[in-house]
Amino acid sequence: MKLLVTGGAGFIGSNFIRYQLENYTDSEIVNFDKLTYAGNLDNLAAVANNKRYQFIQGDITSETSVSKVLENNNIEAIVNFAAETHVDRSIHSGNREFVLTNTLGVQILLDAMRRHSVKIMVQVSTDEVYGSLNLDSDETFSESTPLAPNMPYAAAKAGGDMLARAAFKTYGTDVRVTHCSNNYGPYQFPEKLIPFFIFKAMRNEPLPLYGDGKNIRDWIYVLDHCAALDAVLRKGSPGEVYNIGAHNERSNLEIAKIILKELGKPESLITFVADRPGHDRRYAIDSSKIERELDWRPLYKFEQAIKNTIRWYQENTEWVAKLEKRRIDMNAHLS
Ligand SMILES: NC(=O)c1ccc[n+]([C@@H]2O[C@H](COP(=O)([O-])OP(=O)(O)OC[C@H]3O[C@@H](n4cnc5c(N)ncnc54)[C@H](O)[C@@H]3O)[C@@H](O)[C@H]2O)c1
Repeated sequence: MKLLVTGGAGFIGSNFIRYQLENYTDSEIVNFDKLTYAGNLDNLAAVANNKRYQFIQGDITSETSVSKVLENNNIEAIVNFAAETHVDRSIHSGNREFVLTNTLGVQILLDAMRRHSVKIMVQVSTDEVYGSLNLDSDETFSESTPLAPNMPYAAAKAGGDMLARAAFKTYGTDVRVTHCSNNYGPYQFPEKLIPFFIFKAMRNEPLPLYGDGKNIRDWIYVLDHCAALDAVLRKGSPGEVYNIGAHNERSNLEIAKIILKELGKPESLITFVADRPGHDRRYAIDSSKIERELDWRPLYKFEQAIKNTIRWYQENTEWVAKLEKRRIDMNAHLS
């Protein structure tokens, strides 16, 4: 299958590209990425010379570039990871780029796939579009939970999801939308909670924890997410929505303590800071539909996968050092 992977130089996209090339000898990948501050071709160094892989720098909000890449490459399916993804940046640095890429960019891909007869698109979205659950409830997000985004990032993603739905209902476009919970694993940009805390702890710096630290996220290992997306691509149905999660709810405080313990650092490094505005309290995913219909299950156990993840950041010193040389401010939102 010849795939256009948009946003493939980011965290999940780069893991997905390696997953495809390793698991399918007939997969060919065109990675189309704008290379924003979050895009990093070092994530794909291991496959850079693979004959079934090519990189094209481009922006999904440019109709001309998207048309050109589809026209020249005989693409059968698109998996869209391209997005502005950092909630804090959407709150503190303005939401314009988020709306452009996460909403308008999806429409441009949907229009282009119709013009160029691309058969399938998987729109990779997030559980954050569902809003927030109560801490002391056992409710979960199902595919029929109404979209109620609270964060500018989540609202822009929900816009993309709605446009995908409309393209299916109006034109019969074969687009499938996924809502996955929080990912962790290698190659994640260290502004996101788990690598951010690992980086801080490795340097004996305070770990800034929002509010009371009790906010809950439902963590999934990135390769479980990649396998779920692969199942949606190869076995899913047109117009369907699939929730993806690993039944693994943890408070942010618990995550901070696990990281400190694993790195042999004191809990006194935890520093409570002013809460994020509108901070969603709890996310929890009901993934029974994808488990039942597409026979997908999460395979990685959190206890082991989080240790492996921490070790990966400790061992990949060159990846870390090159990223640090770029001097991107990971703390901007905390000031
Ligand atoms: N990280 C998570 O926990 C999580 C959970 C659920 C869903 N998602 C979704 O998965 C996708 C990937 O997330 P991630 O964590 O890998 O993000 P990331 O920030 O690591 O990577 C995003 C990539 O998109 C590229 N990009 C941004 N704007 C672009 C544009 N206009 N055109 C082309 N490329 C562009 C960036 O250069 C970068 O390589 C996103 O759509 C996100 O909403 C992420």
